[in-house]
Amino acid sequence: MDRDTVEPEAGPVPGEKARRWVEYHDRFAARSTAAYGFVWDLTADAVGPFCTDVDGNVFLDFTSHIAAAPLGYNSPTLKEKMDEFDLPSPTKIAGQSFYSSTGYPPESPDIPGPAQLMERLTEISGDGFDTVFLSNTGAEAVENSIKICYDHRGGASQAITFKGAFHGRTLGALSLNRSKAVHRRDYPEVSGVHDVPYCDDMDCTPETCDCGFFSGGSSLLREALDPKEGYVDPDDLAYIIVEPVQGEGGYRFPSDAFAEEVAAVCEEHDVLLVADEIQTGLGRTGDWWASDGYAFEPDVIASAKALQVGATVSREEVFPDEKARISSTWGGGDVLSALQGSLIIDTIEDKNLLENAVERGEQLKALLRDAELDAVTGIRGRGLMVAVDFPSKDVLDEAVRAALERGLLTLGCGRRTMRLLPPLDVTEREIELGARILAEAAKTVDG
Ligand SMILES: Cc1ncc(COP(=O)(O)O)c(C=O)c1O
Repeated sequence: MDRDTVEPEAGPVPGEKARRWVEYHDRFAARSTAAYGFVWDLTADAVGPFCTDVDGNVFLDFTSHIAAAPLGYNSPTLKEKMDEFDLPSPTKIAGQSFYSSTGYPPESPDIPGPAQLMERLTEISGDGFDTVFLSNTGAEAVENSIKICYDHRGGASQAITFKGAFHGRTLGALSLNRSKAVHRRDYPEVSGVHDVPYCDDMDCTPETCDCGFFSGGSSLLREALDPKEGYVDPDDLAYIIVEPVQGEGGYRFPSDAFAEEVAAVCEEHDVLLVADEIQTGLGRTGDWWASDGYAFEPDVIASAKALQVGATVSREEVFPDEKARISSTWGGGDVLSALQGSLIIDTIEDKNLLENAVERGEQLKALLRDAELDAVTGIRGRGLMVAVDFPSKDVLDEAVRAALERGLLTLGCGRRTMRLLPPLDVTEREIELGARILAEAAKTVDG
């Protein structure tokens, strides 16, 4: 498959082999949110954003596994770097909760392992972020982020999250969710979690706000924490948790005014701010962290997905000193996941992919706007986190399906938004191709 010339070629999806795979898988697997019966063939050709399904259909994948495959498939730079190393056999790899060497000296070992990944994370996270706790998933990164805040705030019992939020599916993380009822209904939750509106209008100001965050010259966050009139005692507040751009909730990009107000309230009340960068982080929005492009000043960053492992990044003093307060046998996945995480950071840096994300994201939005699609009610985005709105969930589903039938993989989120997350090294040609297919698909649906 030649990345410079390959074009998507899709037959019926799911095809016969895909149906058979899905049927077999579902005999043993708990029912889950399987996307349109699409079955990747991991033994077939794939390169950049192009992949092959089990029936031999070739797709242009603008989902990047919801940001978990930031360099697409078979990235040659990643492969070259991994091939440089004499990788340890998996039979040699033990859990990650003890120290393990991947060569000597530790500052430049044969293979970058978990310690080097932690060092790279502190480098890209800037001033003060000097300490990392590795875990496996996004939900674990969130769990550990809030645990260190509860611990640091010495018994504070309250927390604030935002309407529309999604932070994961473990019991602690799901207590912070405010997107779909299915994530929380009837599960026990962490107590003391309050929510306030999230800003979903990039142009919102305190004067013009109609998203519900600003009101009467103040904000609902500020009012909640008002020492006289508020309902949350700032001294009893362990943290505020925010997605700098909401993902599952519908690719909601807040205004600068919102970020400034959140930062100001945290500063005034000396509150810990946790940024959930699990979907937005590691270059997706054109910055290492989406918070970097806003006035948010997080004390804790939760990362995962593109990193290949989970990570909670903060200042040393925020983490507990007490031994065994946080720990995980397989924290940091295995050496290979940690190695990939480090190499992904290196590749983003070496290939200027932050800049590419900004340029290609602008190109994608411009092409879709120029297409003047009747069925599309809005196009938004930062970097390669791009949202296309449709009038309703039914029309969105039709559009996702129509794109799929033409060889383009996309995903829905929120109530009526299509999300597009091409790999960070996507090329001009690939964006043109994706925009053209999406425009063709959107023209067939009923706006
Ligand atoms: C913003 C955000 N937080 C947390 C999570 C949970 O991550 P994981 O599925 O790895 O547990 C996700 C996953 O989609 C996410 O988008």
